[in-house]
Amino acid sequence: MLSQAGQALGMTFRFLDPATEISAEGLGEHIQADYDDSDARRRFVDGLDVITWEFENVSLDSVRWMAGRCPVHPPADSLRIAGDRLHEKTFFVDHDVPVPPFRAVNTLADLEAAVEEVGLPMVVKTRRFGYDGKGQVVVRGREDLAKAWEGLGGVPLLAESLVPFDREISIVAARSRNGECIFYPPVENHHRGGILRLSVAPRGEISEAVAELARKHARRILEAMDYVGVLAIEFFQVDETLQANEMAPRVHNSGHWTIDGCDASQFENHLRAVAGMELRPPDVRGHCAMVNLIGDTEKAEALPPREGRFLHLYNKAPRPGRKVGHINLVAATARELEQLLDDTSRGLDSSSLNGIISRLKIRPGSSQS
Ligand SMILES: Nc1ncnc2c1ncn2[C@@H]1O[C@H](COP(=O)(O)OP(=O)(O)O)[C@@H](O)[C@H]1O
Ligand SMILES: [Mg+2]
Repeated sequence: MLSQAGQALGMTFRFLDPATEISAEGLGEHIQADYDDSDARRRFVDGLDVITWEFENVSLDSVRWMAGRCPVHPPADSLRIAGDRLHEKTFFVDHDVPVPPFRAVNTLADLEAAVEEVGLPMVVKTRRFGYDGKGQVVVRGREDLAKAWEGLGGVPLLAESLVPFDREISIVAARSRNGECIFYPPVENHHRGGILRLSVAPRGEISEAVAELARKHARRILEAMDYVGVLAIEFFQVDETLQANEMAPRVHNSGHWTIDGCDASQFENHLRAVAGMELRPPDVRGHCAMVNLIGDTEKAEALPPREGRFLHLYNKAPRPGRKVGHINLVAATARELEQLLDDTSRGLDSSSLNGIISRLKIRPGSSQS
């Protein structure tokens, strides 16, 4: 999606990816090698103007090595911080961004101590390499501790309070090389089994005060890292307060709606930032939603064409739980979006999506920010 946006900007691409088949097939040269393959990374940097990433688990060592030879944006340090939940939470706290109570866990004794410190129920997460809810266990009572330790122990962990949130929101922001920031409207996110299913944007139920809070936190984090590119921060909203859950130093799934829902997508603005260009204001086109396609795309591909519905396929092999595409919905009114969402979820025949949508009331008053 980055390289698709980049083509319109006249950019050309080279990809370093250990996979034999990549989503960006045909959109540039593919060097197929491990991220820390020293010969491959030498060939990779040769002649490039700028390097960026769209995946957090690239080798930090390689990114640092590349940064000595070619401009790299965002800063390598953002990868170090966001790549470890303990560093990430500590960074939020150090910059006055509230987070749920947490503590580092390295032993079973630490885990038992965490019950006193963060309270029950709590979520235990691996500090590194978790995504789509992988590497997480909810501990509801002391009797769950041994099982959590069995499942996750052996690697550094983090325990944090399970937040009884009113909603999950995220903000996608971009910062240019000269420090200009732009913000997409905060979106409401719905997960099932730790995987993002649906994002709704802009979400009228998110008050202007909460949106302003999200922008304030995001700006502070961007500036603290002297960040260049797109960054996303996920929050738990309780009443009118926000607690940061995690951040992603890259384009983010909850910003995929911007491809069709905004004049300038998160992908375009990420490229503009890293290439030293001016950012473009998002300019939201209406009431938008994004539905993730998880596992396979069969039903999605069978949907009839419809005004305001845009299918995006990632060219990835089907696999249970894998994100293989998404559908963007763009409507002129909240009511029309609701209709589009209803029809789409019926067409996809997804029980988890139907469950989310039936509880999701899009009020006609909810409008753009
Ligand atoms: N402390 C928490 N309180 C409540 N829900 C949580 C908590 N941590 C994670 N979750 C739920 O699990 C989802 C995935 O967790 P997250 O920490 O974002 O990991 P990742 O997205 O990297 O898998 C969250 O979006 C949220 O729905
Ligand atoms: Mg997350």
